[in-house]
Amino acid sequence: MLIDRKMTAGLNAQIGREFSAAMQYVSMAAWFAAKGLGGFAEFFHKQAAEETEHGLKIVRYLGDVGGTVEIPEIARPRSDYATVEDALRHFVEMEEEVTRAIYALVELAQSEKDHSGNHFLQWYVEEQREEVTSARTLLEKAQRFGEERMLLLDGALGSD
Ligand SMILES: [Fe+2]
Ligand SMILES: [Fe+2]
Repeated sequence: MLIDRKMTAGLNAQIGREFSAAMQYVSMAAWFAAKGLGGFAEFFHKQAAEETEHGLKIVRYLGDVGGTVEIPEIARPRSDYATVEDALRHFVEMEEEVTRAIYALVELAQSEKDHSGNHFLQWYVEEQREEVTSARTLLEKAQRFGEERMLLLDGALGSD
């Protein structure tokens, strides 16, 4: 076995965070679709698929290093927001929270001298830098457009 008990538990918890982000983004996609904002809906469906892949990547890694996969309970996602800005703020907060969790896992890997785990997690460090930046950028754009002109931003997202 190439992984210890603490790292196995930490990575299983991260699978839960990735899948829970996936469910949250599916829920957000549905909320945007119901508001007639199909561009945002499509954007969040894509995000959800990415988060699912992030979780599966850890499942495969645990398999490779002989760690037991125990997927934690996934909390019910939030399904309502007051405004688009409110939903996007939640998006930014979630990505920042996942980033903190990844950093904590990197520190655990380093303290456990798990070089393979540390190397594996560096992909997530880079991924989170991109995700936090794109989430913040989308929130800032939405704030500049304002709720009344959100359809214009929605159209721009759909054409990506
Ligand atoms: Fe992720
Ligand atoms: Fe993410």
